[in-house]
Amino acid sequence: DWQMGSYIDEAVAKIREQVGDEEVILGLSGGVDSSVAAALIHRAIGDQLTCVFVDHGLLRLNEGDMVMDMFAGKLHAKVIRVDASGQFMGKLAGVTDPERKRKIIGAEFVEVFQAEASKLKNAKWLAQGTIYPDVVESGGTKTKKATTIKSHHNVGGLPETLGLKLLEPLRELFKDEVRALGVALGLPADMVYRHPFPGPGLGVRILGEVKKDFADLLRRADAIFIEELRNTIDPATGKSWYALTSQAFAVFLPVKSVGVMGDGRTYDYVVALRAVQTSDFMTADWAELPYALLKRTSGRIINEVRGINRVTYDVSSKPPATIEWE
Ligand code: XMP
Repeated sequence: DWQMGSYIDEAVAKIREQVGDEEVILGLSGGVDSSVAAALIHRAIGDQLTCVFVDHGLLRLNEGDMVMDMFAGKLHAKVIRVDASGQFMGKLAGVTDPERKRKIIGAEFVEVFQAEASKLKNAKWLAQGTIYPDVVESGGTKTKKATTIKSHHNVGGLPETLGLKLLEPLRELFKDEVRALGVALGLPADMVYRHPFPGPGLGVRILGEVKKDFADLLRRADAIFIEELRNTIDPATGKSWYALTSQAFAVFLPVKSVGVMGDGRTYDYVVALRAVQTSDFMTADWAELPYALLKRTSGRIINEVRGINRVTYDVSSKPPATIEWE
């Protein structure tokens, strides 16, 4: 609409004025905030922006390709994709404690990003998709209980070590405004209205030790669940079950159980499906998904993902359970 149009014009003018002819680096994660920040800054300064996309091997199915298709393909932005999955898996080998896994993934992320950023010698700015609630939180005005229970890893803490000026064009916006801005900038609604995804990614959805094989199985199971949620419309509201849930995903349980397939016995891994409804992620109810949807999802996962022979549904609310399993 016209209001968003004039907002974009103002924001673009402000970025141009701040940055002048200097170069900017941005860490693209595939999440909403960094994506919208990238699209806005690219609109303002084009090739003066370089995005660095670190693939830690713990992303969702095809996520890396989708990010590249959108930003490099459609927007023609400069994007460096760093495939660091081997490096991350190496660091995570043998580690089972959830908080240690988070710390390792966070630290490795900073390291890989910095190594890449330091190659861009002309960059003077680091852009981040910080939004208003993040600003308020780090100012200590609002206390977020979840952070005391789990140390959230995000792309924070980079500027001092890199010696770059900080560019944060979304600092005054709430999440719904960021989404509207993203749509107005031409990002697909599917991307802008995606469920949140944690910084450590599948690293906290594979219980215990993270292994590439486990991540590969989990990615496929998760993609089936999400596809079924998107394709199942609730007749009462006309909305998909993806839209009716706040967050939904599969969790890999490194436990084997016995099954039967054809004439043979199987002894394979288990996934749990998790879907919650919440307004603030501080408390959450497990979603009362239709049985038919659960049935289709479980049938497809067991048939299509060789290596998984059992699917369970998590019926725990928060509190006392958390949304993620780790
Ligand atoms: P929990 O599991 O604490 O999750 O109920 C609440 C919300 O936070 C997300 N979450 C994270 N996000 N880094 C993130 O960026 C993390 O380490 C992390 N841990 C949990 C979770 O996905 C949910 O939306």
